[in-house]
Amino acid sequence: MSAPWRLLSIAVAVIQLGCTVYAQAALPNPPYLPPNASFGAQPVSSLGPSSVNLHWSTSLGNALWFYEAQRSGNLPSTNRVSWRNNSASNDGQDVSLDLSGGYYDAGDYIKYTYPMSFSLMSVCWGAMNFGQGYEASNQTAYLDDMLRWGLDWLVKAHPSPNTLFVQVGDADLDNAYWGGDEGIPTPRPSYQINATQPGTDAAAQASAAFSACSALYANRTLSASSKAVSLGNASYASTLLTHAQQLYTFATNTTQQTYQKAVPSVGQAYASSGYEDELALAGLFLALAGNSSDAYAQAADSYSQSHLADQVVKEGDEQVFNWDSKAPGVAVLGAQLSKAYPSLATSANSDVNWTQDAQSYMNIVSTGRGRGQLTDGGLLYYPGDSDEASLNPALNAAVLATHFATSILSPSSLNYTQLLTFAQNQLDYVLGNNPMTMPYIVGMHPNSPVNPHSAIATGASPEDIANIDTVPAQEQYVLYGGVVGGPDKNDQFWDLRSDWVQGEVALDYNAPLLTLFAYAIANQTLATQDPWYTRLEAGSYQRVRPAGFPCDAAVEVGCGSGHFSRVGKIVMGVIVGVVSLVVVGLAAFWMFLEHRRRRGSKAQ
Ligand SMILES: *[C@@H]1O[C@H](CO)[C@@H](O)[C@H](O)[C@H]1NC(C)=O
Ligand SMILES: *[C@@H]1O[C@H](CO)[C@@H](O)[C@H](O)[C@H]1NC(C)=O
Ligand SMILES: *[C@@H]1O[C@H](CO)[C@@H](O)[C@H](O)[C@H]1NC(C)=O
Ligand SMILES: *[C@@H]1O[C@H](CO)[C@@H](O)[C@H](O)[C@H]1NC(C)=O
Ligand SMILES: *[C@@H]1O[C@H](CO)[C@@H](O)[C@H](O)[C@H]1NC(C)=O
Ligand SMILES: *[C@@H]1O[C@H](CO)[C@@H](O)[C@H](O)[C@H]1NC(C)=O
Ligand SMILES: *[C@@H]1O[C@H](CO)[C@@H](O)[C@H](O)[C@H]1NC(C)=O
Ligand SMILES: *[C@@H]1O[C@H](CO)[C@@H](O)[C@H](O)[C@H]1NC(C)=O
Ligand SMILES: *[C@@H]1O[C@H](CO)[C@@H](O)[C@H](O)[C@H]1NC(C)=O
Ligand SMILES: *[C@@H]1O[C@H](CO)[C@@H](O)[C@H](O)[C@H]1NC(C)=O
Ligand SMILES: *[C@@H]1O[C@H](CO)[C@@H](O)[C@H](O)[C@H]1NC(C)=O
Repeated sequence: MSAPWRLLSIAVAVIQLGCTVYAQAALPNPPYLPPNASFGAQPVSSLGPSSVNLHWSTSLGNALWFYEAQRSGNLPSTNRVSWRNNSASNDGQDVSLDLSGGYYDAGDYIKYTYPMSFSLMSVCWGAMNFGQGYEASNQTAYLDDMLRWGLDWLVKAHPSPNTLFVQVGDADLDNAYWGGDEGIPTPRPSYQINATQPGTDAAAQASAAFSACSALYANRTLSASSKAVSLGNASYASTLLTHAQQLYTFATNTTQQTYQKAVPSVGQAYASSGYEDELALAGLFLALAGNSSDAYAQAADSYSQSHLADQVVKEGDEQVFNWDSKAPGVAVLGAQLSKAYPSLATSANSDVNWTQDAQSYMNIVSTGRGRGQLTDGGLLYYPGDSDEASLNPALNAAVLATHFATSILSPSSLNYTQLLTFAQNQLDYVLGNNPMTMPYIVGMHPNSPVNPHSAIATGASPEDIANIDTVPAQEQYVLYGGVVGGPDKNDQFWDLRSDWVQGEVALDYNAPLLTLFAYAIANQTLATQDPWYTRLEAGSYQRVRPAGFPCDAAVEVGCGSGHFSRVGKIVMGVIVGVVSLVVVGLAAFWMFLEHRRRRGSKAQ
């Protein structure tokens, strides 16, 4: 090879290298950064002209930024979270694999594949329908970045057709650690499912994430009115589809059991209640991504054989839609596919009518006449499911209602308006239309929570775990865009750092927000109105802490009786101390009086 040719080939190689490194859509320069919380108290009219409401685009931008703050592994030069460091870079060493990357699950430093893949699936599903929202707010590149950070890790976690890593990190070690990202405890073991110890639900859920996102990268949409978001990439879509197909085969073609049977460790945080719903959902998304009427027919068969409709249409037995429970999502997605891609449905079991089931579900849920009822403040609340992280079932129901109304119903029908109003009411509640006048998203507004349960944001030293609520006095970093668990059934919220039930953030809690914000922006009518929190003017309300204490699985001091959690014990210790002092004092006073009385009587 002559010298000029060699130079040219080196140049080409360098350019190719550049292309692989910067494969995804170019990130905006300067980058989008969350404004401080005072921004949320300014009416949009004061913010200057913009093609899209700056409050809605900020909401979407912050909700995506939250995921960047949750990143694990070595951070790229484009990292926007100035206070984050490289962390857990050796994950996978115990199994001689690179399992670095991905996202920390919640307020902790564990990586859990099951809820992480549910979150990715949920976001890709929403972006297929409301991609214009990401486009109009210049957030598509961040969506791409957020998805790839999760999907590229999921690819690493699936190193061979019948192996999927479902957890990295030791939950006991991690629960005992409360500090920054530089001191994360080791060892961090990697836990897998495989052909001898399968996990049907986890394999099917990961498959569904790969399929849903493959379909998004293949420019698929879910209704006539939606346009593909501009991150289409045929080669990436095809890589994701391969993993989706392999995982679907793994789930359907090995012994079927819940994944905590194989990996008991995941049961502490994310035990699955069954795998039939994941199988049906994985089949539907695979049908969409792979244009496969076989997968569609299999989904209909598993829906029918497992009686999943009972969890959807039986008033009073209807289930929530979340990381564990997916039957209502199967019905809504099935309705969307049978309308948008009727050719997929030709060979399917004709007893299954997902449109009808989804309509029944939405009627039950949106009128609060089933198991889920509205709190006095208006939050859809399911006794049991909503007792931890109450906002999540409501936000996921709002997402399903929005999907169903916009892709299935006619805008002139009564049900269309009814469902969109229901969805908007739930979102408004989260954005501040609630008895606490609190937008439950960190850093959005001066009245947002300031004590999310997040080790990464707290700025505490590990020894501060005993004083989690008071040290440091103020959380060091603002975890912009993270929605917290939410209030109790009486609409009360304490903003107490130790209260992981109310105050924790998590990958799956944020996922529905992305879809609801993208929809609000994509819907040009909604986008002309400010989000609810702008009505809470700065200074015109007070941050009110409810009287007493919470009564939940984290802080039981408000329960009146029973056993106490760590903080409960501290608080009770103080109360017991004060009471003892009073008792001792009264006793001393009584003895003093008695002494005087006796002395007096003696003297008489
Ligand atoms: C598509 O994605 C692949 C895999 O990440 C990447 O190598 C390629 O550069 C991307 N293509 C475009 C046009 O972005
Ligand atoms: C927050 O941002 C506003 C402008 O939007 C600025 O005036 C104010 O000083 C900032 N506050 C803090 C604490 O950074
Ligand atoms: C999006 O980018 C365009 C072009 O740079 C700009 O005019 C517009 O104001 C941006 N919109 C938002 C919401 O950032
Ligand atoms: C990242 O490292 C810096 C410098 O050591 C430290 O101040 C900061 O708190 C770390 N961030 C986290 C999230 O622990
Ligand atoms: C298969 O998974 C089980 C459960 O996680 C594990 O104990 C076993 O070592 C795995 N098998 C192989 C060959 O890695
Ligand atoms: C997605 O659509 C865009 C714009 O129409 C097109 O340029 C791109 O090639 C498409 N990608 C795929 C994978 O179909
Ligand atoms: C299922 O497993 C059997 C034997 O283990 C194999 O022959 C068959 O090809 C597999 N089916 C699929 C769809 O992968
Ligand atoms: C899907 O498959 C059907 C028939 O099997 C075919 O007519 C259609 O063109 C395919 N669609 C795509 C997007 O490949
Ligand atoms: C399914 O139910 C919907 C609404 O209830 C109805 O309009 C539709 O005809 C049904 N589809 C089939 C294939 O029976
Ligand atoms: C609309 O909703 C009402 C009550 O929520 C329900 O009774 C009715 O069947 C729904 N309409 C259709 C066409 O499904
Ligand atoms: C936008 O939202 C309004 C109010 O909910 C609704 O009336 C309208 O039909 C929606 N439009 C679209 C395109 O979704």
